[in-house]
Amino acid sequence: MQIYLDHGATSPTRSEVIDLMTEVMRSQWGNPSSLHWWGERSTMVIERSRLQVASLLNADPEGVIFTSGGTESDNMVLMGMARQYQTPQHMIISSVEHSAIRLPALFLEQRGWEITYLPVDRYGQVSPQDLARSLRPNTVLVSIITAQNEVGTIQPIDKLGQICRNANVLFHTDAVQAIGKIPLDMQALPIDLLSLSAHKFYGMQGIGALYINPLTHKKRNIVPLIQGGGQERSYRSGTQAVAAIAGLGLAAELAEKELTQESSRLSQLRDRLYQLLGDMSDLVPTGMMGSDRLPHHLSFYHKHLDGRKIVREMNFAGIAISSGSACSSGAIEPSSVLLAMGYSESEAKNSIRLTLGKSTTPEDVEWTSLVMHQILKP
Ligand SMILES: Cc1ncc(COP(=O)(O)O)c(C=O)c1O
Repeated sequence: MQIYLDHGATSPTRSEVIDLMTEVMRSQWGNPSSLHWWGERSTMVIERSRLQVASLLNADPEGVIFTSGGTESDNMVLMGMARQYQTPQHMIISSVEHSAIRLPALFLEQRGWEITYLPVDRYGQVSPQDLARSLRPNTVLVSIITAQNEVGTIQPIDKLGQICRNANVLFHTDAVQAIGKIPLDMQALPIDLLSLSAHKFYGMQGIGALYINPLTHKKRNIVPLIQGGGQERSYRSGTQAVAAIAGLGLAAELAEKELTQESSRLSQLRDRLYQLLGDMSDLVPTGMMGSDRLPHHLSFYHKHLDGRKIVREMNFAGIAISSGSACSSGAIEPSSVLLAMGYSESEAKNSIRLTLGKSTTPEDVEWTSLVMHQILKP
C-alpha cells in the first residue's frame, strides 16, 4: 500500500488537466504572439485560462500575469519592486515566509534595504498591531504569506491588507499553499499582489501566476525581471507555455468548483488523523488548529526523533510525508519557521508535515495512524 501525504510539496497533475494539455500540444501549438490563425488559437487558449484563474480569485482577468510558478512570482514582486528605486527603501515581510520571499529580502538587505521581519506567535501568526507599528514613511511593500507551508497557519490577511491599504503601502501575499484550499476573493480582500502556483492544486509544475490588482496598481511599480518580447503586458517576456497555461486554467476552474466540498472532506479526514495520533505523547502538534489552519494540513514535532528520520521510515513503509528541517553541507538545519515560532533547535529539527489531498481516503488515514504508531512507539 502506498499513500501520498505530501500534497504541500506537490500534487499529482489531474487527468483532466493532462488530457487538455496533450490536446493543446497536439493542435494549439502556435506562438500566441503570431498574427495568423495558429497564433490566434493559442491566444484564445491563454485568454480562456486567464479568465479561469481570475474566476477562482474573483479578480479582474487583466491582472493575471502567467509566470513559471510561485518562486518566480514572489521574486518578481520583491526584486521587481526594488528595481524601481535608485536608493534602498524599507520592506516588511513575516518571519515565516517561504524561501522564495525570504531570500530575495535577504539579498536586498545585503544591498542596503531595511527589512523588518515581523515576529509570529507560538502558532505562527503575525499580529496586525505589530504590522501597524512597523510601517515607516519609506515602507514600499509588505509581503505576508497567506498560509504557512510547514505549519498550515492562515494569516489574518484581511486585517493585514487593510492596514497597508490605509497607509497606502502595497500589500503582497504568497498564496501558493492556500489556493484551492480556502476561498480568496480579490473583490473583498485588500490585496494588491498575489502569487500562485499550479502544481499545488493539481496543475503541472513550472507554471503559475502573479495577480497584480489593476485597481490599486495603476502606476507601473514592478519593473520586469525578464525582458524581451513584451508578453504578459510586458511584465514577463517570453513565449508563453501555452499547454501548461491551459492546464493551470482548467485546474483553477475545477478547484473553484470543488473547493467547498473538497476542503470540508479533507478537514474531516485531517481531524480524524489528528484524533488517531492524539495518544502519542511524543508527537506535539504545531501551528494553529481550527479555522485558521489549512484544511488538508497536519504538522508536529517529535520529542526525540529527527524529522528526516521519521520521513525515511515512513517512506520505507510506503507513506510519503515531509519534514521542515533541511540538510545543508551535511548538517541538519532546523526549520527556520519553527525557530521563529519560538521552538528550540532540537524541536525545530524534529518537525514533520502530513498534507492530504484528493486521493486520500478514510482507509489511508487509519493505515497511516497504525504505521505511525508502529514506527514511533517508544
Ligand atoms: C508558500 C510557498 N511559496 C512559494 C513556493 C514555490 O512555488 P513553486 O514551486 O511554484 O516555485 C512554495 C512551494 O513549495 C510554497 O509552498
